[in-house]
Amino acid sequence: MTSEVGYARLSEATFDAIAALTYRESGLKLVPEKILMVQSRLRHRLRALNIGDFDHYCDLVKSRRGADERRFMISALTTNVSHFFREPHHFDLLAKQLASKLRNSPDSDQRIRIWSAGCSNGQEPYSIAMHLLCVEPRLADMDFKILATDIDPNVIGFARRGQYSARQSAEIPDEVRGRFLAPHKKGSAAIHIPDEVKARVVFHELNLLTQWPMKHAFDAIFCRNVVIYFDIETQCRLWPRFERALKPDGQFFLGHSERITDAATYGFKSIGPTAYAKTGTGI
Ligand SMILES: C[S@@+](CC[C@H](N)C(=O)[O-])C[C@H]1O[C@@H](n2cnc3c(N)ncnc32)[C@H](O)[C@@H]1O
Repeated sequence: MTSEVGYARLSEATFDAIAALTYRESGLKLVPEKILMVQSRLRHRLRALNIGDFDHYCDLVKSRRGADERRFMISALTTNVSHFFREPHHFDLLAKQLASKLRNSPDSDQRIRIWSAGCSNGQEPYSIAMHLLCVEPRLADMDFKILATDIDPNVIGFARRGQYSARQSAEIPDEVRGRFLAPHKKGSAAIHIPDEVKARVVFHELNLLTQWPMKHAFDAIFCRNVVIYFDIETQCRLWPRFERALKPDGQFFLGHSERITDAATYGFKSIGPTAYAKTGTGI
């Protein structure tokens, strides 16, 4: 093992220790093939702390005094890829359900609550807010809020600012752009999420494996492209918790390569590709 800061090598034994700790802390399953990825992502942390080798780094993150560094480590190991208007067919299902809810009980005091769990840089919750405000204008006068949470404090900080480059915002459809976003100023490629949209989204750091402090149930939960990094045991522990966090007619959305195996057991029925509705008969 070299002790030169920046080029330290991660041994298999130390990788195993870091992988076990990461799994316990966050649910992220790091398979042995990820050793080089972990080495490269954590070298930045070694450099930042001026630690010469991974064994000392591992001792730190396993120790009591390493609590802050454990957060930075998890942040470095999460995959935060996201984009605006990803899998928009989910937004259509949700809009349809909200429209029927508002038709059946047109009480403008209704509280509409949506949760984007594992929201990364914020493109998902902002997309949901902009889409729903476009297709269901009554929401603008209602108590309509989106809770957006992620384990990674860095992405939460970024998301709160609500500023995206032209590349990050390329997928925003023209009609949404026209309704909410000021045209790019010459020389500036950034877009700014307007206050009327920002006001609908509340960002918080939250590890899905810990207790959830929310007291009210949700009309819909989006947990897309998050559980794919968890093993099946962790997923199966989460399904009943999501089910309980939904209102009786609530909807639940996963990413395109994620599934609830045996959805009926957990009180869900399929309503579309990786889209579920609560049935009220869960375990
Ligand atoms: C690939 S992004 C998905 C972003 C967005 N949902 C989407 O589909 O575009 C996965 C996110 O899950 C978050 N994540 C991973 N483990 C988590 C955990 N235990 N609790 C909360 N968030 C977690 C990561 O930090 C990352 O931002």
